Amino acid sequence: MRVWAVANQKGGVGKTTTSIALAGLLADAGKRVVIVDLDPHGSMTSYFGHDPDSLEHSSFDLFQHKGAVPRGLPQQLLLPTSDERISLLPSSTALATLERQSPGQSGLGLVIAKSLAQLWQDFDHAVIDSPPLLGVLMVNALAASQQLVIPVQTEFLAVKGLERMVNTLAMINRSRQQALPYTIVPTLFDRRTQASMGTLRVLRNSYPDHLWPAYIPVDTRLRDASRAGLTPSTFDSNSRGVLAYRALLKHLLSQQIAAQVA
Ligand SMILES: Nc1ncnc2c1ncn2[C@@H]1O[C@H](COP(=O)(O)OP(=O)(O)O)[C@@H](O)[C@H]1O
Ligand SMILES: [Mg+2]
Repeated sequence: MRVWAVANQKGGVGKTTTSIALAGLLADAGKRVVIVDLDPHGSMTSYFGHDPDSLEHSSFDLFQHKGAVPRGLPQQLLLPTSDERISLLPSSTALATLERQSPGQSGLGLVIAKSLAQLWQDFDHAVIDSPPLLGVLMVNALAASQQLVIPVQTEFLAVKGLERMVNTLAMINRSRQQALPYTIVPTLFDRRTQASMGTLRVLRNSYPDHLWPAYIPVDTRLRDASRAGLTPSTFDSNSRGVLAYRALLKHLLSQQIAAQVA
């Protein structure tokens, strides 16, 4: 199984959209995908028609055993989505109570890694949607993954958020054997605005080695897909947004092969 995390310490930058778009395209290619919602807001969970405010069982349950994960529990928590190849490990609002704990002291930093290890045979791919806060959940997402996708909204304030995320990553890398490879993905790009063009230029200058050279455009079809509860590529496989995400997936898969060879 390949595990990707999608993270940025900022909300509204396209994390959930990116997670679901990539998962949908992997499923279209015949892969079995588990998507993990670690954001207490539960947008990914709501996207597929489950209510994070009323779910009795969720990824929160995994954190209730002092850092151990009971055998079979991750499987029991999975919910269906509109795509038969995609299973959801849902979020619930209770997850918010974990955020305040210090990741180092709680011993809960590897709960998601251990949970995914139990799902290794059942899925080809995992995509983790992360919360916008640096806490136990973000640490879990990064510790469990082999590749990180950082969506960055192409507007002026976004670069600050990206700096914070890259600093967080440097801190996390100190406790990993190998640095976590990451790819910066410009999102919500609108070529008519100065903010979009200007931000793209800054990203190209500041992060040449980690920037995906294209961008995800503003595309209302992505919003329509979320309203319909369908993956973007099922909803409209030829929309501009989906074409961009298809190119992104190709790039991420090639990065992965490069990392394996190196
Ligand atoms: N490329 C895009 N074009 C148009 N709307 C988008 C695009 N990406 C995301 N959105 C919309 O913007 C909002 C925030 O996106 P979301 O993926 O939920 O961000 P995050 O998970 O980072 O908070 C959502 O309503 C989503 O449908
Ligand atoms: Mg989100």
